[in-house]
Amino acid sequence: MVKICCIGAGYVGGPTMAVIALKCPEIQVAVVDISVPRISAWNSDTLPIYEPGLDEVVKKCRGKNLFFSSDVEKHVSEADIVFVSVNTPTKTQGLGAGKAADLTYWESAARMIADVSKSNKIVVEKSTVPVKTAEAIEKILTHNSKGINFQILSNPEFLAEGTAIQDLFEPDRVLIGGRETPEGQKAIKALRDVYAHWVPMDRIICTNLWSAELSKLAANAFLAQRISSVNAMSALCEATGADVSQVSHAVGKDTRIGPKFLNASVGFGGSCFQKDILNLVYICECNGLPEVANYWKQVIKVNDYRKARFVNRIVSSMFNTVSGKKIAILGFAFKKDTGDTRETPAIDVCKGLLGDKAMLSIYDPQVSEEQIQRDLSMNKFDWDHPVHLQPTSPSSMKQVSVVWDAYAATKDAHGICILTEWDEFKTLDYQKIYDNMQKPAFVFDGRNIVDVAKLREIGFIVYSIGKPLDEWLKDMPAVA
Ligand code: UDX
Ligand code: ADP
Repeated sequence: MVKICCIGAGYVGGPTMAVIALKCPEIQVAVVDISVPRISAWNSDTLPIYEPGLDEVVKKCRGKNLFFSSDVEKHVSEADIVFVSVNTPTKTQGLGAGKAADLTYWESAARMIADVSKSNKIVVEKSTVPVKTAEAIEKILTHNSKGINFQILSNPEFLAEGTAIQDLFEPDRVLIGGRETPEGQKAIKALRDVYAHWVPMDRIICTNLWSAELSKLAANAFLAQRISSVNAMSALCEATGADVSQVSHAVGKDTRIGPKFLNASVGFGGSCFQKDILNLVYICECNGLPEVANYWKQVIKVNDYRKARFVNRIVSSMFNTVSGKKIAILGFAFKKDTGDTRETPAIDVCKGLLGDKAMLSIYDPQVSEEQIQRDLSMNKFDWDHPVHLQPTSPSSMKQVSVVWDAYAATKDAHGICILTEWDEFKTLDYQKIYDNMQKPAFVFDGRNIVDVAKLREIGFIVYSIGKPLDEWLKDMPAVA
């Protein structure tokens, strides 16, 4: 029986291994993590992450061929294939601070694998890492190998949160990179055989190690670049009276461009886009390619501009001050159908409003108060460490209250900001909300999900991204 072990029971490791276990009943899959509470949650009825369809998959396999354990060394030593899916934070100190990936957790995982291994193993890079990490890991493994053969593969994950199970069931492609030696090719085949249980062969792409590593960074950079492009257009739409949804539709109809990932928004978030682009920028700089580095840096700059512009729009619309005003924040997760808040645009928007002394009342159906308080008090880049190594119980901010209902959040508020496109925000009773708010009542829709005409009829002053401006907003101070 083939044994697989995955180090890191996070957003990637957990769902990916659950689907492998479901699709390959004859393979034994163990997911291990240094965080004991995280493993306990995977073994309980309340999984540590919210992902549609995940509960069902886990329930079908857990205890049969899927196991969650904190006995990291035992499961690694027994495995034939070891996936590594640990945190790769952005460095905050030293060489490459603010850009380069901190490979501390990766390195300690690699040293542990070398230490405990008694048989040959295939080690698979699952978490996104900078190009040429495999080479470094290979060195750590072989220099500590005691005669054991390690083959390293890069098998980057392309799942998106909120649709992870669907993405894993029917991936556009599975990418496997390995050494071009006979042993390397044999390892590629072993991993390909796992995916071949449910993925058609023509969707399994095999490449060399560096192409696989770079393709992941490139794919995320291209996706993020589309969002920054459409967000840049949205500012021009507001200035000219064009409607960004109409522009996106018209542009996306060109089959060479395609319709996906052209929704203007308050900005992209998530654990990957910014981090991967920063990595790409750093690699370009290290390779003497400053023009290429600057090109990709601009994608992040436009994203930061998008968030800052949204805050400016709110403040300028509300008579140039939000000091002491209650602002309801609807949605805190970085997108709908996840409770994940890593790099969510809500953090920067909330911090911007708090900087202008607003009182925030926040509601998100999947994000806890503790998480929100933690996010708002954490330093940039500090989020991507195992939970037990993050600063504990931050002092809660008095200006921020977290409530469990959109109606409570909006009661007596001066304005509403929609920051996540949760479906439930489309069908709220906006008349009831309006009646319970201060007047004039504002809605700032950072996701373009509300029915603007209907809300204006009720009496709201509405701002939607990249849409012709409300008469009220036109008279307010210009937004840079
Ligand atoms: C992304 C990639 O899609 C995935 O392939 C990779 O493996 C990991 O990174 P994820 O971060 O989970 O996945 O979410 P994604 O759906 O890509 O959304 C990222 C951000 O972009 C979200 O904040 C989302 O709201 C925003 N977005 C997306 C837009 O603002 N507009 C769009 O049109 C699409
Ligand atoms: P991702 O979104 O890439 O899955 P997460 O942060 O959700 O990232 O998950 C990474 C997991 O890896 C965390 O649960 C963390 O506790 C775990 N981890 C980090 N370092 C190690 C290690 N050396 N051994 C085992 N688990 C680790």
